[in-house]
Amino acid sequence: MEVNYDNQIVRWYVKSAILWGVVAMLIGIWIAFEMVFPVLNFNSPYLSFGRLRPIHTNGIIFGFTLSIVFATVFYAVPRLFKTPMWSPLLSRLQFWLYNLTIVLAAVTLALGYTQSKEYAELEWPLDILVVIWWVIFAVNFFMTMAKRQEKHIYVAVWFFIATIVTIAVLYIVNNIALPSGLLKSYSVYSGVTDANIQWWYGHNAVAFVLTTPILGMMYYYLPKHTNLPIFSHRLSILHFWSLIFIYIWAGPHHLLYSPVPEWAQTLGMVFSLALIAPSWGGMLNGFLTLSQAKEKVRTDATLKFMLVALTFYGMSTLEGPIMSIRAVNSLSHNTDWTIGHVHGGALGWVAGMAIAAIYYLVPRLWNAKLYSEKLAETHFWIATLGILLYYVSMWASGITEGLMWRAYDASGMLQYPNWIEIVQNLTPFRFVRAIGGTLFLTGFCIMIYNVYKTIQNKGSGFVPTDLREGA
Ligand code: HEM
Ligand code: HEM
Repeated sequence: MEVNYDNQIVRWYVKSAILWGVVAMLIGIWIAFEMVFPVLNFNSPYLSFGRLRPIHTNGIIFGFTLSIVFATVFYAVPRLFKTPMWSPLLSRLQFWLYNLTIVLAAVTLALGYTQSKEYAELEWPLDILVVIWWVIFAVNFFMTMAKRQEKHIYVAVWFFIATIVTIAVLYIVNNIALPSGLLKSYSVYSGVTDANIQWWYGHNAVAFVLTTPILGMMYYYLPKHTNLPIFSHRLSILHFWSLIFIYIWAGPHHLLYSPVPEWAQTLGMVFSLALIAPSWGGMLNGFLTLSQAKEKVRTDATLKFMLVALTFYGMSTLEGPIMSIRAVNSLSHNTDWTIGHVHGGALGWVAGMAIAAIYYLVPRLWNAKLYSEKLAETHFWIATLGILLYYVSMWASGITEGLMWRAYDASGMLQYPNWIEIVQNLTPFRFVRAIGGTLFLTGFCIMIYNVYKTIQNKGSGFVPTDLREGA
């Protein structure tokens, strides 16, 4: 039976991913340069690091990443179920409410309204808006699932289900607060309980926004683009269940050496170490699928981005568990090492897979061959260089920083009591980081030009290499 897929909503989400990607990365670059040249805050509260940083994190996680996740869900799920989305109206309502939230988030954060909880900064009226469009999304998704023509639920969909259900629980529980004004509220939790719940949420925002939906994207785009089945279906099921079970317990690794009970810290540490197994299970399943298409990887920038994404997924899911070990965390905590770890995952894994998704989707959505494979290749090399500069400079900076903080002289006094001296030492590394970020965004802009020229040719015809298109 011919199914009429709604591509318009996917086109909108691809555009929204590109828009929020540029805005959030520009702000990321700005604050990266601010850490080297503090005058860049122009003594204005609106340009201060403290206000711009959460706009960067919210914009990149909830604007850029979620947009490409939604684009994938609205593209892949109807195709995997051979059923159009249950309600095109709800899809559109969700799109506009979601984008309105991101705009209002940027405005309120710029004005200094915040709950002061990382990744949960938005004040209560925006939280309610988030819950409304998330519920709309869930209803549309599960109704489509209920009406599906294809019985089998492919593993990519399992990852999307985990995202929808878990984020709903995490977001609501962590944000329960008593409003004391239109843009001011107080969390119902306090002290250690507040910290524990916040990092149960914060860590799982990483798990269920920056990991599970991206794995869902991998499981969809990789077999489609290589036209090969995933290496092991059994492994995909095994690593799915173990990943979601183990992730949810690892939050206390953000609170080592804090007043959180010692047993809870140890629990978080042990579960973090155990996370290597399912994480690498997923990575290996991706690599082993990709290794069957070696020739294609050589000539295809989309697959190269997937290769880099998988490589960085593997690196950050090895580095993360190592950083969860108390003794290592005593060096890495609050230093640039954490920032390097974050961006290895963020630029390499999340943005890498997002970019692969954009290159996969654009020719199919506008029915035109990609304007230039060569430009895509250039994008790939510039982006990879940018990620490497970012990652390596933050390792060097973070370890220098950690070692200087804890250095003692012969009389047992701090060797560098003058904190600003340590900051000055880090400036060259932070400058390299800012250059790395600038290169990454330059590559992204090359992609935008390529996408723009491709769209100009829309309707000119595109023969997909994946013969199972629409399957
Ligand atoms: C042009 C690329 C980027 C640049 C230059 C950049 C720069 C920065 C800077 C300077 C910070 C603050 C670091 C600090 O407080 O010391 C930061 C934080 C952060 N960025 Fe980025 N960023 C970029 C891309 C991304 C992407 C693509 C993501 C996610 C998909 C991301 C996620 C984050 C997160 C989660 C944090 C908070 C880290 C923490 O609290 O430990 N960034 N970024
Ligand atoms: C096995 C998987 C992983 C484990 C066990 C892990 C562990 C850790 C640890 C121990 C920290 C430092 C906590 C601290 O000292 O405050 C951290 C920070 C962070 N990680 Fe991971 N990580 C993993 C994978 C990832 C991936 C794939 C990403 C994707 C981008 C990521 C994003 C982050 C972010 C955003 C932070 C900063 C949180 C903050 O704001 O303080 N992690 N992670």
